[in-house]
Amino acid sequence: MRRIGILTRDCAGINACIRAVVRTANIYGIQTIGIFRGYEGLINSEMKLLDRRSVSGIINLGGTILKTSRSQFFMTEEGQMRAVETIKKNNIDGLIIIGGNGSLTGAHLLASKYKIPVVGIPATIDNDVNGVDLCIGVDTAVNVALDALDKIRDTATSLERIFVVEVMGRNCGYIALQVALAGGCEEVLLPEKEFDIEKMCEEISLGAKKGKISWIIIVAEGKAKASDIAKKINEITGLETREVVLGHIQRGGRPTSLDRILAARYGSFAVEVLKNGKTNVCVCIKNNRLDLVELKEAIKPKNIEVENYYRLIKILT
Ligand code: F6P
Repeated sequence: MRRIGILTRDCAGINACIRAVVRTANIYGIQTIGIFRGYEGLINSEMKLLDRRSVSGIINLGGTILKTSRSQFFMTEEGQMRAVETIKKNNIDGLIIIGGNGSLTGAHLLASKYKIPVVGIPATIDNDVNGVDLCIGVDTAVNVALDALDKIRDTATSLERIFVVEVMGRNCGYIALQVALAGGCEEVLLPEKEFDIEKMCEEISLGAKKGKISWIIIVAEGKAKASDIAKKINEITGLETREVVLGHIQRGGRPTSLDRILAARYGSFAVEVLKNGKTNVCVCIKNNRLDLVELKEAIKPKNIEVENYYRLIKILT
């Protein structure tokens, strides 16, 4: 293995991961070529060699220095052939692909259909990569949301209001569940769980009669819109309710120490795995040890642990 290519999605911790890949590869005398704008850049041959120096000072930066995009063209056979052509033309012996479900699906396709050696690194705030406990970017996203929530709580308490806070996560309720527990929230609405709004409103009205003054309700974006839930609560209970959509602030920001450490471990391990001839796999951690999951498994739908967390949220509220 003389040259590896690296392409990424974006979330906090990805730059730290690029740094780990480049510097580990360098130890083995392997060149790293950075592919810009994700699969679109692979198709269009947008790339640049990365040396040790070119990744200095990025460990603390959010986003990705390689930029990224969603490529519709890569979904087509023609786009894929063009990508494979770029790989061959640029003497790329293997790829490290850092991202979530979409990126890893592309990785699996390149490895299985076109026989390109590929190792995936799970990085998405959604934490929806099957067989992987923790993806890069999740911890930062949860902490960013938590910081916002603590601020919202000040107003909720002062004005005796209900706040409905929508968090990201696509179809996965992981961020919502973590934020609700860590933020001491009263309720969380998840794609993975049935929900009865009338029942929740009854609980709120009952609480209000007993003197409870504020509520924070988390809604996963894959379940409902915060605005719809807030409207409904106000209609049923008559209590003042506001909605907040946290949106993309959760994907950016300075990576937490946990994300940087995960990025370092995943990035460095991915190089070792690729160098040792393994392909079509995604790195992960099991029992705090680095491990692998087949890409075909990693891209399957993931079931997250909901009931125990949910029960705890309700006990502690
Ligand atoms: O997959 C990460 C994520 O931030 C999801 O949580 C969210 O639903 C989606 O991407 C937003 O995508 P975009 O940035 O294209 O609007």
